[in-house]
Amino acid sequence: MHILIIGATSAIAHAFAKKYAKEGTHDFTLFGRNEQRLKSCSQELIALGAQSVHVKVINFLNNESISTAIHDCIQTRGSISLAVLAQGSLSKQDKAKKDMQYLYDEMMLNAMSFMVSAQLLANHFAEQEKGILIGIGSVAGERGRKGNYAYGSAKSAIHTFLSGIRNDIGNDNIRIMTIKPGFVATPMTAHLQQSLLFVKPDYIAKEIIRGIEQGIDVMYIPSYWRLIMMIIRALPEKIFMKLNI
Ligand SMILES: NC(=O)c1ccc[n+]([C@@H]2O[C@H](COP(=O)([O-])OP(=O)(O)OC[C@H]3O[C@@H](n4cnc5c(N)ncnc54)[C@H](OP(=O)(O)O)[C@@H]3O)[C@@H](O)[C@H]2O)c1
Repeated sequence: MHILIIGATSAIAHAFAKKYAKEGTHDFTLFGRNEQRLKSCSQELIALGAQSVHVKVINFLNNESISTAIHDCIQTRGSISLAVLAQGSLSKQDKAKKDMQYLYDEMMLNAMSFMVSAQLLANHFAEQEKGILIGIGSVAGERGRKGNYAYGSAKSAIHTFLSGIRNDIGNDNIRIMTIKPGFVATPMTAHLQQSLLFVKPDYIAKEIIRGIEQGIDVMYIPSYWRLIMMIIRALPEKIFMKLNI
């Protein structure tokens, strides 16, 4: 398989890639913003058994950079069987309230770069009539909270976008998966107080692979987040406004 990972230096995406690298038969293309970090991911995948790894630095805030990289990837590396979209930044809500360029850039990264990539890959999968697209969303996208609505609304946007693509072209051969993790111990959350709700990237990777094998479209990981978010979504607005969650 040719596997494309966008945001390949993400701890979750890299844990996922390592599991496939160990199978010893796959080619990888890794997109990211930092060449050094991409190269170190690449070396690890090769050591584990990847057949080949190509890395590409892209500018996530620039449509042209993303689109050209995906087109070139298909032209030079061959058709893509499986793609993971993992880029993302846990936006600082206080900063996003005051600094409009920061808010804009965060939305470009967390929502627009995701949607442009997802649509191009969906078009590719529709043309070849097969493919698996895995988008990493978040439980944060389920309801706007005062502490993280810049990040959360970008995640809401990608949930809706992926749902639309799934509705449009999804079938047994074209799988569009939305992953909604809760708290994961990665560099993104390193500054947060760790709690029992935190899981490791390796656990998320294993669950995503189970989702691929079992044909699951939308996954809350761990699964108890489905119930937690059902309750949070069901709270009347007047009550939700008074909560400090
Ligand atoms: N960790 C969690 O609790 C959690 C929960 C739910 C959903 N998620 C989602 O899971 C995905 C992967 O995150 P992770 O937890 O694995 O975190 P991570 O290890 O910090 O990875 C984040 C990825 O996004 C890239 N990135 C961050 N800021 C960027 C920017 N301004 N421009 C371009 N690229 C940028 C990082 O690149 P560099 O390596 O170059 O920094 C890295 O590839 C994200 O979409 C995140 O929203 C995470």
